[in-house]
Amino acid sequence: MITKYSNQKEQVKEDEIAQAAKEIQNGNLVIFPTETVYGIGANALDEVAVKKIFEAKGRAQDNPLIVHVASIEMVEKLVEKIGTVEQKLMEKFWPGPLTIIMKRKSKKVVPNVTTANLDTVGIRMPSNQIAQKLIEKAGLPIAAPSANISGKPSGTKIEDIIEEFNGKVSYILDGGITDIGLESTVIKVEDDKINILRPGKITKEQLEEVAKQVEIDKHVLGQISQDEIVASPGMKYRHYAPNTKCIMIYSQSEQKMIDKINEITNELQKEGKKILVLGRKKHINSYITPTKWNMGDTLEEVAKNIFTLLRKVDKENVDLVLIEGVGEQGLGLAITNRLIRACAYHYMIV
Ligand code: TXA
Ligand code: MG
Repeated sequence: MITKYSNQKEQVKEDEIAQAAKEIQNGNLVIFPTETVYGIGANALDEVAVKKIFEAKGRAQDNPLIVHVASIEMVEKLVEKIGTVEQKLMEKFWPGPLTIIMKRKSKKVVPNVTTANLDTVGIRMPSNQIAQKLIEKAGLPIAAPSANISGKPSGTKIEDIIEEFNGKVSYILDGGITDIGLESTVIKVEDDKINILRPGKITKEQLEEVAKQVEIDKHVLGQISQDEIVASPGMKYRHYAPNTKCIMIYSQSEQKMIDKINEITNELQKEGKKILVLGRKKHINSYITPTKWNMGDTLEEVAKNIFTLLRKVDKENVDLVLIEGVGEQGLGLAITNRLIRACAYHYMIV
């Protein structure tokens, strides 16, 4: 298959989006930017088209896809009803990085492949202009997981995406590096309580402005065994992980964290091992290893950089990667959720 490409970055033209929208209508795959990460999309209502996404990504069949919409009318066609809390969430956070799981219409307008046979469907309205126009021009809801081979960090940069998907999709719309860098917050409302199934840019603190009770699913920071039944199937899969062994190290005391990282580095260097440290910019000069990468200073910067850095790890040929933890406040929860998976649950709190 020959993949067609748009112009670069913000210069994507209307007619290019229209061509990509045609591909969606014809049952083909299109990679497009959203404000979180890139998506690999197909007509959410077309079973055959959606199956192509699973094939291209090597994604497990029991992991449901998020359906992207451009209007509330589109949502109404897909779900049984929109509850009051959901309504408030849409008003406050849409368009934007929040996915809401709702009961799907019993007539199964959304096919089983899209929802992995669940009686619910995850829906979000992206704020990225290219994504919105693509959905509008196609006139269809678009099912789209993150644009990455399953298990790899989500695609936030076009170069990484081309490496994995050239020749496997019909069109790639280049929107530059994605704004947020981490996938959307995924939530489900039950009895007026909001459950966070995957943390993201919309934080627990922000959700508390809409509902009195907001809970973080225990699997967000906890480990999951393969046979466990989880609220969001995506949580149980290996994710974001480089092949090189990684350990996340966190302490509320920045000095303690730096000291621990240096202590481990020192011991392993004595054995001739090569250590890579991923640290906040303000700490980077404190690390004794010669190989160290700057993750940025603010949580927003770390979120934006982290997947690109994780993708480069295996090319560096080191024995171990030590990654600074960032805590669980605000956007920190989403970053920590991705980091402990990247580290295959190897982490230390000191
Ligand atoms: O920011 C994002 O959400 C990006 C962009 C492209 O929109 N998409 C994304 O999709 O991250 P994906 O497939 O990589 O992650 C979707 C997550 C998975 O963990 C999946 O299990 C969960 O959402 N999910 C989707 N539908 C669900 C449902 N009906 N019930 C529970 N979890 C669901
Ligand atoms: Mg993904």
